[in-house]
Amino acid sequence: MAKHKIGWLPGDGIGIEVLAAARVVLDALGLDAQYVEGDIGWECWRKEGDAFPERTIALLKSVDAAMFGAITSKPGKAAEAELAPALQGKGLVYRSPIVRMRQSFDLYMCLRPCRAYPGNPLNFKEGIDLVVFRENTEDLYAGVEFNPVPDELAEVLGRLSKNFAPFGRLRGDEYALSCKLNTWSGSERIARAAFEFAERFGRKKVTIVHKANVVRATDGLFLDAAHEVAKDFPGIQVDDANIDAMCMWLLKNPFNYDVLVAPNLYGDIISDLCAQMVGGLGFGCSGNIGKELAVFEPTHGSAPKYAGQDKVNPIASILAVKMMLDWLDETDKAARLESAVAAVVAEGKVRTYDMGGSNTTTAMGMAIAGRL
Ligand code: NAI
Ligand code: MG
Repeated sequence: MAKHKIGWLPGDGIGIEVLAAARVVLDALGLDAQYVEGDIGWECWRKEGDAFPERTIALLKSVDAAMFGAITSKPGKAAEAELAPALQGKGLVYRSPIVRMRQSFDLYMCLRPCRAYPGNPLNFKEGIDLVVFRENTEDLYAGVEFNPVPDELAEVLGRLSKNFAPFGRLRGDEYALSCKLNTWSGSERIARAAFEFAERFGRKKVTIVHKANVVRATDGLFLDAAHEVAKDFPGIQVDDANIDAMCMWLLKNPFNYDVLVAPNLYGDIISDLCAQMVGGLGFGCSGNIGKELAVFEPTHGSAPKYAGQDKVNPIASILAVKMMLDWLDETDKAARLESAVAAVVAEGKVRTYDMGGSNTTTAMGMAIAGRL
């Protein structure tokens, strides 16, 4: 029996090509693994009316970790229109399989390392090395939303909160409400993950990102919980910053920061900012990590305009493989893989279009595999 059982979910669009390149690299590394292919994404929605079928959920329950490529999502009407004729008019509703995967497996930690590999023409500055810990299940993504707002809720809100003057005048169908919902335990566990990571990998500082001066209840709780956790890590410096100032400071002096921890929405925002500073979508990798399962992926989507052209950069997926290897405790292989990526980037002979070159997805995968 293979040492690791790995779920393999290419999805659709360029997800298929970038995971094919990731697999070439894994084979070159000689990881002792069994890969179990699963279906997810737009074709599942079109043909079956479910983008995240039960059989894929069952598959994920049986593996140690999974690699996920990318999927296409479309708004309600377009999604309905593309359903197979036999499935139309049945009231099927499209729901993002990624959000469902994070929620159903409680993948509470979204880990996004952003490292500038020397010589990458896309680096904002050489030497950037940031790691973002984004809370992945709560906050404005909790899905507690109302549009219109039910009368009974509108009545209670008007009675209990005097801060928003229009409450008394507005009917429930005149406004929408998305609840920002942060728990102490949820905030504590993502903060602890960030500090434990800092300790384990010799990082100096953790910065807590928030907007607690304005969003006092939820961000105040997140900030308090994270500072409470910080007390258990006296060897790690801690500071905090408002999300808006954070964006400015990150651009002004990225070297003042190290590990960043944030609630879901701010984490989403700063991780895109950090990813762009080290090469953008072709380099952005991410791990969705829970207690039982971890799913690794490039952060980009299915890029339909490039699908099937063997054109996009597979490095984001290959770096996601590196993260998976670390998580599986295959740290030697992870380090070898990262060195191979760094060497190919530094050499600059093989470059995909986003890096100003004209090499293919396959060529980039082969070049990195060749270095192993
Ligand atoms: P996208 O990330 O798919 O692509 C945007 C643009 O970024 C592309 O047109 C391309 O110019 C560039 N790009 C993306 N990946 C690249 C790579 N590996 N190498 C070089 N360039 C790359 O975002 P978009 O166009 O907004 O969304 C397309 C579809 O993907 C939508 O249906 C969206 O819902 C879905 N999506 C899925 C995600 C996922 O599967 N995790 C995440 C984001 C979007
Ligand atoms: Mg995003």
